Amino acid sequence: SNVRHLLTIGDLSTAEFSKLVLNAAAHKATAKAGRPPKLIRKKLTRQTVAMIFSKRSTRTRVSTEAAVTMMGGHPMFLGKDDIQLGVNESLYDTSKIISSMTSCIVARVGPHDDVANLAKYSSVPVINALSNDFHPLQTIADFLTIHEAFKEQGVNSSGVVPDKLKIAWVGDANNVLFDLAIGCMKLGVDISVATPPDYRIPETMMAFIKEQGKTAPSPGTISEYFVPEEAVKDANVIVTDTWVSMGQEEETQKRLKAFAGFQVTDELAKRGGAKTDWKFLHCLPRHPEEVSDEVMYGPRSLVFQEGENRLWAAVAALEGFVAKKGRFVFDNPS
Ligand code: CP
Ligand code: NVA
Repeated sequence: SNVRHLLTIGDLSTAEFSKLVLNAAAHKATAKAGRPPKLIRKKLTRQTVAMIFSKRSTRTRVSTEAAVTMMGGHPMFLGKDDIQLGVNESLYDTSKIISSMTSCIVARVGPHDDVANLAKYSSVPVINALSNDFHPLQTIADFLTIHEAFKEQGVNSSGVVPDKLKIAWVGDANNVLFDLAIGCMKLGVDISVATPPDYRIPETMMAFIKEQGKTAPSPGTISEYFVPEEAVKDANVIVTDTWVSMGQEEETQKRLKAFAGFQVTDELAKRGGAKTDWKFLHCLPRHPEEVSDEVMYGPRSLVFQEGENRLWAAVAALEGFVAKKGRFVFDNPS
């Protein structure tokens, strides 16, 4: 079928990804100016968006439900104890049935294959709401936040970010990082990643990330470090996430030990030579070990703006993928 899905930022061209971020920015600006959101108000009228969530969520659930409501549709939350999936029914059967009655499936899963298989068997667009490998909605919100914070410094050909922007990721190589790095490749941003040696980006994922630059008009770069100070050098933005993702709870003690020294602090940024006006991002939920209170709640922190931007990311993604009755609004390359 020619239904388009959003499983990773890798599913989007540079132009499509930029458009989602800029559409999100435009809808937010309209709302903040107190104007009625005319462009999106009726986009999902009488349509149902199924939300299959096998893990906890605050931001993704609330932003998706609020976005669908704003767009005139009905969000149907299906938690892991609500439906037969995984206990008494296969992904294939579940996807066939749910997609036959709804306009979109937004799914939060463990193994990425689960959301990929939902998409394979679905007759409507599937949007990944976090898998073990990717978190595209977070990446749209992160680049919206970066766009808002840096746009007065000019924008490169993507229209989203300034020339020569440098992002440093300090922490675990996880789902949030992978899509963020892909976004960097697409938009021409340089990203430096510092992880403990045993927690570096897996080789196949690194190859996938780098491949994303090949089709970008002016690709970004990615470099790997095992010392946080080296990664933050000249960074405009420092980003981290939890050291223990959902599903890794039994590794908590081992991970806390392995990540010692990776906490994002003002001192780390100073020692490493980050730009003096560096900004901080974190997708949340946050724990004190990965970032100091001073950074998290200080003037560099964009985390609450970033969290709020999840709403506008959801609006833009639903508009792009669903609002034309299951047909993507951008050109289908195939
Ligand atoms: N950032 C994010 O996805 O948060 P939730 O897990 O609360 O949805
Ligand atoms: N890396 C985290 C992100 C949560 C939004 C996790 O997968 O649990």
